[in-house]
Amino acid sequence: MTVDFGFQKVKKEEKETMVQGVFSKVADKYDIMNDMMSFGLHRKWKDIFINEINSYANMTLLDLAGGTGDIAKRFIDKGGKNAIVSDLNKEMLDKGKSRISKKINKRHIKDIKWIHCSAESIPYEDNSFDYCTISFGIRNVTHVENVLKEALRVLKPGGKFLCLEFSKVDDTTISKLYDFYSFKIIPKVGSLIANSKDSYQYLVESIKQFHNPQELEMMMKDIGYFSVNFKKLFFGVVAIHSGYKI
Ligand SMILES: C[S@@+](CC[C@H](N)C(=O)[O-])C[C@H]1O[C@@H](n2cnc3c(N)ncnc32)[C@H](O)[C@@H]1O
Repeated sequence: MTVDFGFQKVKKEEKETMVQGVFSKVADKYDIMNDMMSFGLHRKWKDIFINEINSYANMTLLDLAGGTGDIAKRFIDKGGKNAIVSDLNKEMLDKGKSRISKKINKRHIKDIKWIHCSAESIPYEDNSFDYCTISFGIRNVTHVENVLKEALRVLKPGGKFLCLEFSKVDDTTISKLYDFYSFKIIPKVGSLIANSKDSYQYLVESIKQFHNPQELEMMMKDIGYFSVNFKKLFFGVVAIHSGYKI
């Protein structure tokens, strides 16, 4: 059985290690690369994403594939007091932890926990969290359905799942420009800044291979989320999916 690793077909059992190889290589330059590749837009998308949360204080948030903690930090900045960043990559988590230790906001240190785990197998009991988020993580996992099932399991009844991910640009002209930028420029910048052309080649290919927003919406409905919705941002470059546990 094979799965996509960017444009390559690889054995299902091998994908996770290969993806982790990518993030171990780029962890050091991950944040600066995000700013450069998106011209800072990823910050705006994450701000819009966190605003999909309706209340913060006394709420618990589990951020899956949380990397260096951008979503958890925004949750705390909005008044949340209990956030967990989970990720399968220790280098990404370490980078995130060391980044907050240099910042003035001590609440980031006090109110954010860091957990090493797969989003496909979450080490928490059923009905544990008010919010479960995943930002630019879901296209990297081997079994998207497992993540959706696990997130639903650990959400409390009434809890909300939110997913921010690259999506499909509808307009043909913008799509062509976007493809040119993705395939011709980003791997070169990845090579210059993060010394890893291949990693950024994988990242742009994985965007192209990921489900379209209607498919992801359907998967969420099939798995049992309620009131599933998505909205596109920036011509459909990214989309936010949401759904509730009842
Ligand atoms: C593009 S980064 C996104 C990081 C962060 N959420 C953000 O928005 O900046 C993708 C992250 O997914 C993590 N990841 C990939 N597969 C995973 C899995 N199966 N379980 C947990 N994390 C995973 C990677 O280690 C990496 O940190």
